[in-house]
Amino acid sequence: MTSQNIYILAIESSCDDTAAAVMLNGKILSNIVASQKIHEEYGGVVPELASRAHQQNIVPVVDQALKKAGVLKSQLSAIAFTRGPGLMGSLLVGTSFAKSLAFGLDIPLIDVNHMQAHILAHFIEEEHFKKPPFPFLAMTISGGHTQIVNVDSYFDMTVIGETIDDAVGEAFDKSGKLLGLGYPAGPEIDKRAKLGNPKAFTFTKPKVEGLNFSFSGFKTAVLYFIQKQVKENPAFIEDNLNDICASIQYTIIGILIDKLKLATKQTGIKHIAIGGGVSANSGIRQALKDGEQKFGWTTYVPKFEYTTDNAAMIAIVGYLKFLEGDYAAQDVMASSRLKI
Ligand code: KG4
Ligand code: ZN
Repeated sequence: MTSQNIYILAIESSCDDTAAAVMLNGKILSNIVASQKIHEEYGGVVPELASRAHQQNIVPVVDQALKKAGVLKSQLSAIAFTRGPGLMGSLLVGTSFAKSLAFGLDIPLIDVNHMQAHILAHFIEEEHFKKPPFPFLAMTISGGHTQIVNVDSYFDMTVIGETIDDAVGEAFDKSGKLLGLGYPAGPEIDKRAKLGNPKAFTFTKPKVEGLNFSFSGFKTAVLYFIQKQVKENPAFIEDNLNDICASIQYTIIGILIDKLKLATKQTGIKHIAIGGGVSANSGIRQALKDGEQKFGWTTYVPKFEYTTDNAAMIAIVGYLKFLEGDYAAQDVMASSRLKI
């Protein structure tokens, strides 16, 4: 730990949340997220609307983050921002804003990979949350991502498995849409699953080699199943909603746990850190906990506000890169397909 006070202002705008956070020496002073409600009526994120909303939100969100932290712009040591991956129009808003602010204040600009940030969120200084020891496996599961990453150190990480089509959050959201649930459907499926029988209906798990995932076939399987059942009983969904939700969730959890088991076997690493919005799912949390007894692994879940898209996770990466003097050039560009 350094004796100097390092203040990082971080900006995240990769998808549909405009977020800003202020960090002092690894501790979060403020973490502001403006979630864009506009997408709910479309049942998914509309990129063009997301960019516009970021444009509207970014200055007030940054202002709020600084005020809440009680930090002046003149005290900032560096500006960190999400360079990618994400929606290009969304990334451009945060990138341009961060570049201008760093230029105006004449302080370093630090580019951050959003996927690395989901993982390094575990290293934000927080009481009562244990940090995973290196090496560990990180599973990032959200509406936009599904990855298993072998993490050897802060900046030495390798993706060992990822989805070849939909993300796991989409499997929840698209299945929910078929059932007439609102967007995003993940939390509602979770709630209903607690009241239903997970073995009421069976959905075949996709067969994907190695550690990769596929969820597009699963969504189609749910679609055909619902169509067939509704033909026989038009009230099938209403009559069985909790059981259908429980069965869908049970299958998805099975897919994730099977891959984690394989990943721990292949790598010999038994520390598992999870992140992303889907890690809020109570069934997944329970299955991971059960695995501690059954498979001998140890699991790490960060504070909830650091698991969904947020700028605190961008701040911790900014801080770690600041300590290494790893800054971005002024001509750095947003990159929608940035890799770990
Ligand atoms: O990380 P996040 O807020 O945004 C990105 O997608 O990057 O994740 C949102 C996703 C949505 O697909 C939502 O349905 C899912 O996380 N989600 C859940 C739960 N809470 C949020 N999925 C299952 N169970 C939940 N409790
Ligand atoms: Zn994310």
